[in-house]
Amino acid sequence: MTRRALAQRVRASPLDRSLRPLHRWVWREEARRARKLLAFAATEADGGRDLARAAEMTPDALLRRLYLRHAMDEQRHAELFARRARDILAGLPGGAASGFEGRWLAPGERGLDDLVVESGGDEALLAFLHLSEKAAAGRFALYREVLDHDLATREVFGQVLRDETFHMNYTRSQLVRVAPERHRARLWRARASRLWKSYLRIAVGLASLIGRVMLILQYFLVLPVFAVLARRAARREKPGWVAVKAKDPDSLRSTYE
Ligand SMILES: [Fe+2]
Ligand SMILES: [Fe+2]
Repeated sequence: MTRRALAQRVRASPLDRSLRPLHRWVWREEARRARKLLAFAATEADGGRDLARAAEMTPDALLRRLYLRHAMDEQRHAELFARRARDILAGLPGGAASGFEGRWLAPGERGLDDLVVESGGDEALLAFLHLSEKAAAGRFALYREVLDHDLATREVFGQVLRDETFHMNYTRSQLVRVAPERHRARLWRARASRLWKSYLRIAVGLASLIGRVMLILQYFLVLPVFAVLARRAARREKPGWVAVKAKDPDSLRSTYE
C-alpha cells in the first residue's frame, strides 16, 4: 500500500488533528522523544504478551494463527521503538532525564495496556482490539506527519503503521465472521467501555490535579498560621526545667496518682 493510500485509509481523530501543533511540540525535544518511544516499546511488548495468551486460550484455529502473528508484530514494534529510543539517547550528552512526556496527549497504542484477555471471549476481544488498533493507527499516522524533522523516527512509525492497519482490518473482518448478527452491538459495547475508561482516566487526572492544588494551598495558607501560633506559644514557655506538682496529671511519680 502506498503512503498516500495509507494516509487516506487511516486518519487521526478530529480532536487529535485539531491538536496537531501540540503534538508537534511534544515530539520536538529529543530527550522527550526518546522517553516516549521507550514507553511505547513497553506498551507494545505488554500487548504482545497478552495476545500470545489470547492465542493460547481461543478454541478457533484461524484466530489462534492471527493472534500469534499479531503478538509477533507487537513484539517487533517494541523492538523498533526501543532501538530508535536507544539511538536517540546515544546521541544526547546527558541521556534522558525524567520529565514531562505528555502521555495523556500522545499515548501511543493505548488499549493494548489494559487488554483483558480472559473476560468476554473472542467476540469482545476482537471488538476491543479493532477500536484500539484503529485509534492507534490514526495516532501513529499523525505522529509520522509531525516528525518531519526526524526522518529515522518517522520511518519507524511508517513501518508500525502498516502493521496497525492490518490489525485494524483483520480484527473487524474476524469479528464479522465469528459474530455475523451481533458484530455491531459488540462494537457499540466496546465503544461504551472505551468511553467509560477515558472518563475514568480524565477523572483520575483531575482528582490528582485538585489534590496537588489543595496541598499547595494548605502549605502556603494554613501551615503559616500554625507556624505563627507555635512561635507565639514557644515565646510563652519558661526556659529550662519546670517542677510538676505531685497531683498534676503530668506527674511522672506514679501511673495512677
Ligand atoms: Fe503495535
Ligand atoms: Fe497493533
